Amino acid sequence: MEKLDSMIYSCKLCKLANGRTNAVPGTGLLENVEVVLVGEAPGRNEDLEGKPFVGSGGKLLDELLSKAGMSRDGVYITNVVKCRPPNNRKPEADEIETCTKNYLEKQLDILKPLLVCTLGATALEYFTGRSRMGEARGRLTRTKHGIALLPTYHPAAIFRNPAYRELLQSDLKKIPEILATLRKKDNQTVLTGF
Ligand code: URA
Repeated sequence: MEKLDSMIYSCKLCKLANGRTNAVPGTGLLENVEVVLVGEAPGRNEDLEGKPFVGSGGKLLDELLSKAGMSRDGVYITNVVKCRPPNNRKPEADEIETCTKNYLEKQLDILKPLLVCTLGATALEYFTGRSRMGEARGRLTRTKHGIALLPTYHPAAIFRNPAYRELLQSDLKKIPEILATLRKKDNQTVLTGF
């Protein structure tokens, strides 16, 4: 992972490299990783600090993880793309393709998590080809790579719509139980019941 991180820090494979202060590979647990949380892209604070989810959305995420019995040290947190898009625009298709092929997929190959939890529509779309959050959130499914996937809202969505807070919280609270089932069972049979 260290080697991959250093490739990300010096990456020039897409145009997002031009505007970044720091690339943001990801942070968290590196061994026996059960959950990988995947957001969209670094924002301003993340670009400055080189760490994912350190702004206001990140503080909210920490709080909600803690209420769900988890912490950022016990999971791995990363994004679909590793560099901040100009003015926080959505990452473009070519940026997503290049970055995920070279980095996110390799991170998942190294970490081999039991569960991916996507935060927001960009990560959901990358992993499933679908982006309709209302239908997908809180329902266990599978990524196109075959990993169990729990889609939920992006923490920043709560600032726009406070009613989502409870939904995001209840989705995160499902994670310990989902993991307990995934640890025990053959992966194929797990999708029912959540
Ligand atoms: N939003 C994201 O999607 N990721 C971050 O790391 C920060 C904000």
